[in-house]
Amino acid sequence: MSPAPHPKSDVWPFIPSPRIIDVVKAEGVWLEMANGTRILDAAGGAIAASIGHGRKEVAAAMAEAVGDTGYIVPTFLTPQRERLVARLKASWLPDHLTRVHLSSGGSEAADAAIRLARMYQIAIGQDTRWKIIGRVPSYHGATALTLAAGGHTARQKGFEPYAPHFPKVPAPYALRSPLGRNHPDEDIRCAKALEDTILSEGPETVAAFLAESITGSSGGAQEPGPRYWPEVQRICQQYGVLLIIDEVMTGFGRTGARFGIEHFDVRPDIMYAGKGLTAGYAPLAGIYASDEVLAPLAERGDSLMFYTYGGHPGACAAADKALEIMEREDLVARAATQGRKLEALLRDRLGQHPHVAEIRGRGLLWGIELVADRETLALYPAEAGITNAVVGQGLARGAFFYPGGTGDIRDIICLGPAFTISDDELEMLVERLAGAIDAATQKAAAA
Ligand SMILES: Cc1ncc(COP(=O)(O)O)c(C=O)c1O
Repeated sequence: MSPAPHPKSDVWPFIPSPRIIDVVKAEGVWLEMANGTRILDAAGGAIAASIGHGRKEVAAAMAEAVGDTGYIVPTFLTPQRERLVARLKASWLPDHLTRVHLSSGGSEAADAAIRLARMYQIAIGQDTRWKIIGRVPSYHGATALTLAAGGHTARQKGFEPYAPHFPKVPAPYALRSPLGRNHPDEDIRCAKALEDTILSEGPETVAAFLAESITGSSGGAQEPGPRYWPEVQRICQQYGVLLIIDEVMTGFGRTGARFGIEHFDVRPDIMYAGKGLTAGYAPLAGIYASDEVLAPLAERGDSLMFYTYGGHPGACAAADKALEIMEREDLVARAATQGRKLEALLRDRLGQHPHVAEIRGRGLLWGIELVADRETLALYPAEAGITNAVVGQGLARGAFFYPGGTGDIRDIICLGPAFTISDDELEMLVERLAGAIDAATQKAAAA
């Protein structure tokens, strides 16, 4: 007999699904379900909730902002926008990124960054430059343009006909490098692929190169070797190609630094970041650009079309308060410290697991890559749905893990808890994760 349908299956989610997670309250790293059980939020939702759930100060700041100004068209200044931009410039952004445009989320920010790059090239008389080179794997958003610019084959499936021409290069992935497993020249190989692609496309047609500093959930916290970013920077400069860096998942402390770029020697022309900007309390993302990029547009009197809810005063107040809390509680440093403890626990418990190919990450962004065979790196068949099986087993054990991976890196479990997570909670997280991986892989073996 099949189980009775969930009583709320006619309400949520949009496309009916048997898995209904009914959250009524959240506190710290814990989600409380309608039936009274608690789930450890090991992923900060979609790797966004970075200062912990239930901060009343943020709620109060939002309420005050909405009471004071409500909705104001994005082109006008409000005290909340002014305070947020001042804080970003004083304490968060790289010095050269002096201008801030606000959207409601990461996809919109990516879309605006791409439009900005194209507008810049037109403004400097390089009208033929329109192509955006992206990487595989990557994710920059779910709008038609950003989906096409990214390299998330699973999410692109079916939409290929809508995608105009977006050249792609590989993101460094040492574990499966065609040069050999963990080959030290994977960084140079991938940087060279960019140069080759610019040359084969014709540099006069390329507007920008778009990449995450550290690949988020699509690649499971993949980061390049040390020579990658300096070499990419040199190539972009040589061929007049703007460098756009996506810090949506990695920004605002997630990797134990303000932004992922701080771990490398790289200076983007345009950067955008969302998620951690409000620590998940409100929909907001920022596009940050240098004076050099914006001066030619200002000279022409160009404007970058806004989104109606971009920079909503309530969201700006949430961001300003969330960043103030991060500064006051030194949470970026805490992400690094707790990240080191998490790494040690993961390596100890899962480092030799027969179905774990790699544990990688920084700060509190981690990816655990699952394989059928650790020695050969053979993948589980797609039909096994091993990532979803682990997520399901995690929920059954009271923990939420974020499913990642796409294409050739199909099965990744991502971790991104709040920076406030305690030592005990880290231990609980790893214990529940190991239990979920054991259960799912044993079930797959028995199938
Ligand atoms: C690296 C990266 N870029 C862009 C996005 C899109 O952001 P959003 O879902 O807020 O539109 C995401 C979302 O997960 C992301 O991880």
